[in-house]
Amino acid sequence: MKILVTGGAGYIGRTVVSVLLDSGYIPVILDSLIKGPREFTEDQVFYCGDIGDSKILSRIFTEHPDIVAVMHFAALIDIEESTRIPSKYYTENLLKSQILLNSALSSGIKCFLFSSTAAVYRSSSPKDGLREDSPLEPLSAYAASKLMFERIVADICHEKKGFGVALRYFNPIGADPLMRSGPYNSDPSHLLGKLTKLPAGGTFTIYGNDYSTRDGTPMRDFIHVWDLAEAHVAALHFAMNSKEAGFEVINIGSGIGVTVQEFVDSFLGISKTPIKIAIGERRPGDSAGAFANTLRAKSLLNWSPRFTLDQGISDSLSWEKIWLAKRQRSDGVD
Ligand SMILES: NC(=O)c1ccc[n+]([C@@H]2O[C@H](COP(=O)([O-])OP(=O)(O)OC[C@H]3O[C@@H](n4cnc5c(N)ncnc54)[C@H](O)[C@@H]3O)[C@@H](O)[C@H]2O)c1
Repeated sequence: MKILVTGGAGYIGRTVVSVLLDSGYIPVILDSLIKGPREFTEDQVFYCGDIGDSKILSRIFTEHPDIVAVMHFAALIDIEESTRIPSKYYTENLLKSQILLNSALSSGIKCFLFSSTAAVYRSSSPKDGLREDSPLEPLSAYAASKLMFERIVADICHEKKGFGVALRYFNPIGADPLMRSGPYNSDPSHLLGKLTKLPAGGTFTIYGNDYSTRDGTPMRDFIHVWDLAEAHVAALHFAMNSKEAGFEVINIGSGIGVTVQEFVDSFLGISKTPIKIAIGERRPGDSAGAFANTLRAKSLLNWSPRFTLDQGISDSLSWEKIWLAKRQRSDGVD
């Protein structure tokens, strides 16, 4: 069975491609390569193009009439940029996604899985974690575009008798444990990426240690990217087995809150990199943070995360070495 994977040359999409291959599916990748590296598409069924291009979509659906589902990862993901240039994010993430959704459902595809985000939730720290019905408050155009598209998927799946699933991810870390893919961004904005790129002797700043958390530093939920990818196959089975049209929203996180200080301590213990830690002022827009309540994922998908935080950090570090070596070889440096 074939699955169209948009954004399949990206960090998460490419990991899902590997899980699909391992599970006996044939992924068909559509990616413009605006971000993802071409290496991630090697030896795959790959179309280089834009999700908003109806010609390429109709070519794909004609050439692969056995595509049974779409997994939609393609998006722009820079939250800060989205607050400066919201129009770009509404065009790329919302309008183009609707072209893709219409094209898929009109071609007779019934299952549509969409990458949403925990950034749609209002900042709060309920004791049992953020549930799918926790209050919503997307603060950036990025998060708003994701929430708006969830609604579009729900409505259009209802109209066209499809089944949609929006997976709200928390913070993915790590790499494919078999090292087929992992983070590729040379200037990452997330915590683990920044720590990984820090040279020995460098200083890492934790912003704020006066939040209402165990040690005062903000709390996050880190999910191993392989766990996240496996959740997609579980969601695919759930959607394909659903007899009626419908739509579900499901959190995908580890269900464990880890403070930034705890994360940094784990990183230092595993990497043994001698770096200094400084405490800075809180950053505007940052919050105490929260973790996912994953009961819905467990009950609907029979999915639970398997990997530890340490495994995620360790896989990222192993992948970083492999990726740097690959890049140096392709740049002809060594
Ligand atoms: N990484 C995270 O922390 C995170 C958290 C929550 C949700 N998500 C969501 O997961 C999805 C994948 O994120 P990622 O981290 O793998 O990002 P990524 O940037 O690595 O992957 C996105 C891929 O989509 C492609 N793409 C972008 N716009 C396109 C277009 N118009 N047409 C075709 N291809 C296009 C890019 O080239 C890239 O390969 C995104 O939808 C993102 O919003 C990511």
